[in-house]
Amino acid sequence: LQTHSPKYTLMWFLSDSDSSEGEEYDGEGLFWPEDKADVFENDSYISVRKKMVSKHNHNLTNILSENSKLCQQFQRKQSSRHYMSMLVQRKNLPAWQERENILDLLDQSQVLVVSGMTGCGKTTQIPQFILDASLRGPAGQVANIVCTQPRRISAISVAQRVAQERAESLGNSVGYQIRLESVKTSATRLLYCTTGVLLRRLEGDADLKGVTHVIVDEVHERTEESDFLLLVLKDLIVQRPDMKIILMSATLNAELFSEYFSNCPTIHIPGQTFPVEQFFLEDAIAETRYGNSPYKRKHNSSRIYGPGYKGGPRNAMDYVFDDSESFDKTDFVKDSIPDQDLCLQELFIRYSDVSAPVLKTIAAMDLDKINMDLVERLLEWIVEGNHKYPPGAVLVFMPGMAEIRMLYERLQANTMFNHKGSSRCVVYPLHSSLSNEEQKAIFSRPPDGVTKIIISTNIAETSVTIDDVVYVIDSGKMKEKTYDAAKCMESLEDSWVSRANAMQRKGRAGRVASGVCFHLFTSHCFKHQLAEQQLPEIQRVPLEQLCLRIKILDLFAEKTLESVFSQIIEPPDLESLEAASQQLQDLGALTADEKLTPLGYHLANLPVDVRIGKLMLFGSMFRCLDPALTIAASLASKSPFVSPWNKREEANMKRRAFAVGNSDHLTLLQAYKGWCSAAKKGTRASYAYCRENFLSSRVLEEIASLKRQFAELLSDIGFCREGLRARAIERASTHGADGVLKATGPEANLNSENISLMSAMLCAALYPNVIQVQTPEEYYSDGELKKLPKASELRFLTKSDGYVHVHPSSVNHHTRLYESPFLVYLEKVKTRRVFIRDCSMTSVFPLLLFGGSQINVELHNGEFVLSLDDGWIKFAAPSYQVAALVKELRWELDE
Ligand code: CDP
Ligand code: MG
Repeated sequence: LQTHSPKYTLMWFLSDSDSSEGEEYDGEGLFWPEDKADVFENDSYISVRKKMVSKHNHNLTNILSENSKLCQQFQRKQSSRHYMSMLVQRKNLPAWQERENILDLLDQSQVLVVSGMTGCGKTTQIPQFILDASLRGPAGQVANIVCTQPRRISAISVAQRVAQERAESLGNSVGYQIRLESVKTSATRLLYCTTGVLLRRLEGDADLKGVTHVIVDEVHERTEESDFLLLVLKDLIVQRPDMKIILMSATLNAELFSEYFSNCPTIHIPGQTFPVEQFFLEDAIAETRYGNSPYKRKHNSSRIYGPGYKGGPRNAMDYVFDDSESFDKTDFVKDSIPDQDLCLQELFIRYSDVSAPVLKTIAAMDLDKINMDLVERLLEWIVEGNHKYPPGAVLVFMPGMAEIRMLYERLQANTMFNHKGSSRCVVYPLHSSLSNEEQKAIFSRPPDGVTKIIISTNIAETSVTIDDVVYVIDSGKMKEKTYDAAKCMESLEDSWVSRANAMQRKGRAGRVASGVCFHLFTSHCFKHQLAEQQLPEIQRVPLEQLCLRIKILDLFAEKTLESVFSQIIEPPDLESLEAASQQLQDLGALTADEKLTPLGYHLANLPVDVRIGKLMLFGSMFRCLDPALTIAASLASKSPFVSPWNKREEANMKRRAFAVGNSDHLTLLQAYKGWCSAAKKGTRASYAYCRENFLSSRVLEEIASLKRQFAELLSDIGFCREGLRARAIERASTHGADGVLKATGPEANLNSENISLMSAMLCAALYPNVIQVQTPEEYYSDGELKKLPKASELRFLTKSDGYVHVHPSSVNHHTRLYESPFLVYLEKVKTRRVFIRDCSMTSVFPLLLFGGSQINVELHNGEFVLSLDDGWIKFAAPSYQVAALVKELRWELDE
């Protein structure tokens, strides 16, 4: 039963080895070692793969001849018309003022921090300063620069822009690389890549051979990957004293980074921005509701609102007096403003001379929700143009896709914005999953008299710059991951932005001329409630993936996780690290002395939650790939089952009609399969299917798309040839609703109809997230179950949270007799109580086979006692269950 011993697991991995061809893909990421005999020892297996991954071709003569060609091209370029005209534009950027300074400091110091306002030319110009300086020197010393970007979309768009500035086609001296896609050649000396791509390269090529400069862009964003990269670079510069590091940041916390790199020099590029007027919720409400108030007309003020009126800074509130409603201020405070809401109380005191309706409006608003109505009114006001501000593009910041969609649809229904009816506006959504083409449209200038409205996530805060923005509407919200390490509970929730985010959003309006920014929160909230800075991501996420990625690097292989973590710029707390390390040991990715198992090695290469990764790997090994990918994708996305509040029971019934094997996961699989067959009949049939069965076609489509991505990830590490085929199909033609299904061969899905196997896979993937179902004693006598208990009398025990509840939407909610008293689940959700939303029943055997190595079965007084994992689950089986177990065991053995 030692299934977690490396050798045993390894044999399974190899049993799928007919997909091994020793071929290389994309110059990195390798399939299988050719000589499988080598790989039976854990360590040597990993080192064989690493050697092959690092098969970088450093042919010196080739490099030298490419270099001299590049130098000649650069000389010729100086007289090209296109190059010259771009150069004029480039020289106007503030970064050019600091060009000599930056190059000098880089000569003197190995690490340099550069900060400057967004748009000053850091990303596009600084790498070119270095490249150009080297192209003027001897041909043997052309720089080889890697510049990391936090997002795929920015790596591509910046590389395109820089190639254009250099009057070259992309992939010559400038290229980009993102996961699964690259445009670069042997001549590429400036590579824009995502942070993940560089981290992955470090796995095979620990010294970054041949790289002369690493530029880490947008370090202020403090993503988990960027903080991790800094940690690696800090160690690497000792081994590579000839390599230079440049950290580029948009805001002013440059000192933090400089201190981290032993007080290295910093340069600040002075900004070239225009003033932006800033308005808060109280102003916005006043304007949209009272924009035509008699008071204002009487004064005939040329300013609608803003500072400077009658000397001293004033507020729009000051313009709006509407005392027609009599109102008692004390009552107002008592009735309208909850005691605990200090923000509003103080606001009230500060603006106590302001009209009652305005205050009442603010008090009545649910400040935790974005007031779409208000956004729409503001947009109308801007587009209408009855104000002093110049025409220009509008950028609206929304927390996520759902809100973007909601506002977009609202605007489509409003004749003022719907450009089919009139051509006053063009509206574009902007988020990280846009295609290149869609993205380009956003940068184009609309015809005169047409207002461009862009509804964006915080991607437009720093990564994507749209030059012609004059108006910014800041919802004040963003999506933020948070994580409770003690409970292993992760959530992605809307939260308030930090003050730094809000300022950055505001700054987006002042790029080409002065602009206006509307924040949908009060000025009081801005000053007193928003955090100064966002917590770094590394302190808000589960650390399992990071632990694995640390372990995979030679640099850290011999160090303890704790000592590596303590070197992180602002380390997460020890408790989270210990929880992650324990989880990894429980699921078999790390040994007790923190060594990577082969399973851990492969999981480290899959950028998904470790449990989801495990399901994908096991699905591939056990040849039930397609259903495993469907479930993995649904675990990574959300449930496609919808339950409208007035039809909840009907929706639950439909869901239960799909129920399979006491498993929410298999039930979903069933529904998904139904959707795929409906989709074959056409779009209408698939919509009808969704409507009838209370399913969200949008979520199902998302699952299908995630499935394709997962197949590609697997094929990247040699676990799924079908991923490659899926990609080929995707490129060659439009795919059906379910690309993977079409693409997977019969072998990968040999066992896809085997329900027991699928439940066992789920157990393997989700262990140790196990619930034990307890039936009250009184229903037994002499070890026999005498009467069925009511569903409500069953109790559900977990290891870390004590008793929990199965969510009413689960197919297991009404179950009264559990054939096996164990359920596995991915996550708990904490609302009023701790709920398990989706769970699957698992029998004892998968638990024995996959549930770690600490399992004992003993016979005590004629009863089998099964204890799992440091004695947490003690399962004294009544005799009738023992009989069932034995029967099942015999069945399993026969199988
Ligand atoms: O990195 P930073 O925010 O400091 O600026 P940048 O990305 O280097 O952009 C400098 C200038 O290049 C911007 O102000 C834009 O005018 C221009 N640019 C562009 O036109 N298209 C791009 N994809 C990127 C930059
Ligand atoms: Mg930049």
